[in-house]
Amino acid sequence: MRKPVIAIDGYSSTGKSSISKILAERLGLIHMDTGALYRGITYYSLQCCADAQGNINFEKVFDNLKNISLEFRKTGDILTLFLDGEDISQQIRTKEVSDHVSQIACQKEVRAFLLDTQRAIAAQGGVILDGRDIGTVVLPNADYKFFLTASIEERTKRRFLELQNMGVEISAEEVSHNLTTRDKIDSEREIAPLRQAEDAILIDNSNMSKDETIAAIISHIAEF
Ligand code: C5P
Repeated sequence: MRKPVIAIDGYSSTGKSSISKILAERLGLIHMDTGALYRGITYYSLQCCADAQGNINFEKVFDNLKNISLEFRKTGDILTLFLDGEDISQQIRTKEVSDHVSQIACQKEVRAFLLDTQRAIAAQGGVILDGRDIGTVVLPNADYKFFLTASIEERTKRRFLELQNMGVEISAEEVSHNLTTRDKIDSEREIAPLRQAEDAILIDNSNMSKDETIAAIISHIAEF
């Protein structure tokens, strides 16, 4: 039987990626964190196409896109992001990248460049893609679509703890500001804005644990 294609979209820090990763392990599916791709391009842009103040030269980024090798490599069921042969999974999680990623993600050249990578991985079935526009644009025919939301207070608390555990020095105010700014840019952009697909199941996990959210999602998925 063909394995399903699952789209999980939603606001920043609703747990999309960590929940998708656990779901993929439980269901024997491949997980692709599509936010990592946008973060990868942002990391590249800050390294190669920005001045000392972090102002990105977008034209230079667009010109260079065709020469960038940004790929997920598969180890078992885990996909790790490589940029020009270097594992950049840690570098894409910095505050600097988080502060710039939504500016990069609203550029149509960047979105078009990343579309094929995302669709190619889904073509074989048996995948969970998490992001912002998976159910609406990348995989409108996904077998299952979920949209995660939670209060800004809860999301700030989760992200703050996560960053603290990673040893990142940041205040709760800075975290909250980054989340609200990204959500605003992501929701208001012209191309592929963050929004719930009409046929997506909405889950507000403000008062739910990770396990409860996973159970809620699994309850909608038929055996395969
Ligand atoms: O998921 P994560 O928070 O790592 O995503 C980082 C950023 O990448 C988002 O704030 C958004 O700007 C962009 N993104 C997007 N479309 C996706 C996934 C992420 O625009 N499918």
